[in-house]
Amino acid sequence: MAAFAPAFLADIEEIHREHESLLNDLMQFERALDSIDCYSEVLVNLVAVGEVAFLTRRLVYQLLRHFTREEETVLAPLAEISPELGDLVEKLRREHGELNGRLATFAVGVEELESADDLYDAIWQMKEQGKGLTCAIIQHVAREERELAEWM
Ligand SMILES: [Fe+2]
Ligand SMILES: [Fe+2]
Repeated sequence: MAAFAPAFLADIEEIHREHESLLNDLMQFERALDSIDCYSEVLVNLVAVGEVAFLTRRLVYQLLRHFTREEETVLAPLAEISPELGDLVEKLRREHGELNGRLATFAVGVEELESADDLYDAIWQMKEQGKGLTCAIIQHVAREERELAEWM
């Protein structure tokens, strides 16, 4: 392993802590999705829907902030080390864009849920999309953790 400046290693530590915090928040988000009971158009747990909406807004902010910080403090310096790492960083940046885009679309869907023509169907779709998104973010973070472990 190459010797890195202490400041760079501290930035990697910080990103690792943000990953742990993000994973905790994703678990809470998933639990909120699971707690939405939807037996019919008129039997929807609106408190749970409200919690999903709140957690979604928080996640939009958190993810955008994390990705920006990660790109500036860790990914940009890593990309300078070798062409292979440059490729990896490019891939991770692309995933940031995709995940931000998916989350933004999801967030719009959650905000517009109440005006859906078929609330029952819209809620089931929201649950499925939310779980798929959670899975994709967890996979992205797990990959970064594997890569970052190489530099610690
Ligand atoms: Fe990332
Ligand atoms: Fe990350």
